[in-house]
Amino acid sequence: MAGLRKVGVVGLGAMGAGIAQLCVEAGLETVGREVSDELGGRAKERIAHFLTRKVEKGTLEQAERDAAVERLSLTTDLAALAGCDVVIEAIVEELEPKRALFAELERICRADAVLASNTSALSVTEIAAATSSPERVVGMHFFNPAPLMPLVEIVRAELTGDGPFETALELAVLLGKTPVRCHDTPGFVVNRVLIPLLNDCIRVLDEARVKPEDLDAAMRNGAGWPMGPCELADLVGIDVHVHASEALYAKLREPRMAPPPRLVAMRNAGLLGRKSGRGFYTYDDAAQRR
Ligand code: 3HC
Repeated sequence: MAGLRKVGVVGLGAMGAGIAQLCVEAGLETVGREVSDELGGRAKERIAHFLTRKVEKGTLEQAERDAAVERLSLTTDLAALAGCDVVIEAIVEELEPKRALFAELERICRADAVLASNTSALSVTEIAAATSSPERVVGMHFFNPAPLMPLVEIVRAELTGDGPFETALELAVLLGKTPVRCHDTPGFVVNRVLIPLLNDCIRVLDEARVKPEDLDAAMRNGAGWPMGPCELADLVGIDVHVHASEALYAKLREPRMAPPPRLVAMRNAGLLGRKSGRGFYTYDDAAQRR
């Protein structure tokens, strides 16, 4: 698509807010949609915070930061996405709400607008099938934290058209990312490998009777990981990881995909990692819980 100008982001949790931050930093007019003003406001505050940190660290000019924050408009009304060139969905990881949203977006958005899902473990093809124009539905899978992780998987669903696929790729490059092309298979590329690997790591905790901090040190120092598996699970969210594991297990039926009981118990107890203040580690500082 010539001249991407305006992008919509639906769902401004940690991933959606990170994606919206990338969009405003890239100079795109960005419409962020949340279900309440309060949640939208929280996301804008999060974005403003991280952009302010960049100014404090000398990697962004104050005027550029202010202009970036200005480029984000908030709405609770999906109709406000009507003029967007691309809409990126980052709502709850449940198939039916996503399908309902895409059916709604199809009615609201221009016929040539690209509709992208940031789903991490659901089928983009099944989401696209809720619309009568599946050729314009594509996966754009960002990694957590979206502003820092270079990769975006550009996922071709069964009926994705070449034009929308290339537009998604073009947008990822505009956002400063390193995109890879792949097809719509369970877990795409990274999660197909990373989810069972993290599950193995958690099983090793019990089998080798090793402490989380020692397992993390082992994987950082012995395998060159930037952060250990327990730190990573806390960052991603224990609930998010368990949910993605369940989705992959349901599709692939490989035992390694199934979430380890220890993680399920943590999820059930509300030990969700950074966002809840407690997971494998404790996060007392509000900044760590962002
Ligand atoms: N959003 C925006 N900005 C952020 C941020 C966020 N969530 N988190 C941190 N920042 C900013 C902060 O301003 C921070 O500086 P400050 O602390 O001085 O304010 C700045 O970025 C640098 O942060 P760090 O010092 O923490 O950066 P590091 O150099 O330590 O790298 C890391 C952090 C990139 C997260 C690195 O540890 C890493 O690569 N970890 C692995 C992460 C990973 O594997 N992610 C993939 C998870 S799987 C996934 O997402 C799939 C999904 O489908 C579940």
